[in-house]
Amino acid sequence: MKEQLLEIKQKAMNHIEQSPSLKELDHIRVQYLGKKGEITKLLRGMGSLPKEERPKVGAVANEIREEIESFLNTKIQELEKHQQEERLQKETLDITYEPPLPRIGHFHPLIQTLEELEDLFVEMGFTVYAGPEIESVENNFDALNAPKDHPSRNPSDTFYIDKDTLLRTHTSPVQIRAMKNHGAPLRIVSSGRVFRPDDVDDTHSPMFHQLEGLVVDKHVSLANLIHTLDIFIKEMFGEDMETRYRPHDFPFTEPSVEVDVTCHSCHGKGCGACSYTGWSMELLGAGMVHPNVLKHCGIDPEVYSGFAFGMGIDRIAMVKYGINDIRLLFDNDVNFLSQF
Ligand code: DAH
Repeated sequence: MKEQLLEIKQKAMNHIEQSPSLKELDHIRVQYLGKKGEITKLLRGMGSLPKEERPKVGAVANEIREEIESFLNTKIQELEKHQQEERLQKETLDITYEPPLPRIGHFHPLIQTLEELEDLFVEMGFTVYAGPEIESVENNFDALNAPKDHPSRNPSDTFYIDKDTLLRTHTSPVQIRAMKNHGAPLRIVSSGRVFRPDDVDDTHSPMFHQLEGLVVDKHVSLANLIHTLDIFIKEMFGEDMETRYRPHDFPFTEPSVEVDVTCHSCHGKGCGACSYTGWSMELLGAGMVHPNVLKHCGIDPEVYSGFAFGMGIDRIAMVKYGINDIRLLFDNDVNFLSQF
């Protein structure tokens, strides 16, 4: 049995000597020294040896085990050292290398526009006021002086939740909430989502965004409205921007106006974007708050007057960033959005 042990030792040593990888050395350890390895297997046959022989064979076996083990460890260390040297030789340090910066997100162009608009009005002394997207028919239409047969009340123009509740079709109901809760004087802006059952195309989406403004005080006039909006347009789009006021009809204002702004693409010269008129049309609706609306909110129209305005934030973001399709704002394509 001793000879057999020495044979195993020789075989193991040769095997280790020729082994090119750490992985293979691992296999060798299992093959010779493991629980089911060759040495253990051989020692199972010790029962057939005379009693006095057994401790001697056991001692030889242990010695051989230790020798194999130690040779194996030496070989492993050699290989590891060699590998490290190779790695160090290959490694170079490039001190001019600039690692890419982590990708940092930013606000959506629509939210950037919305916050810019709000900031401008806050600078002019307005307070930002919030209102819910689910509104009462009362606030969205009745209190805003919309006649019972006004076409905008039609289910083809409004998402109804039940007969008294709807998804707000504009931000104007926030005017009612602000006046009912705080009375006069008042100077607020409010922005957010509004909803209308429009088919999707390059200028329409069933969900879009508006910014509403309301000023109520003593002696507020149409001149104040025009002055405020003129300042706002120049601040937002540039000093060379002009405004044009055309008469219009909204139930909640009297008189009502629609406001056009110098075309952002051609600065008034006339181009394809403005159908050669030089004007971006219908950027804003505005007017003097209708006395019925003030009365409904408990404000005396003999003492107070007010002006209000509403604008499409999506339209303004599109004009500002030169985006020609509203769908791009809602597709949430990161490649597109990361430009802004
Ligand atoms: N609510 C109107 C709309 O959605 C916009 C509007 C027009 C708001 C005139 C106003 C206003 O406050 O005075 O078309």
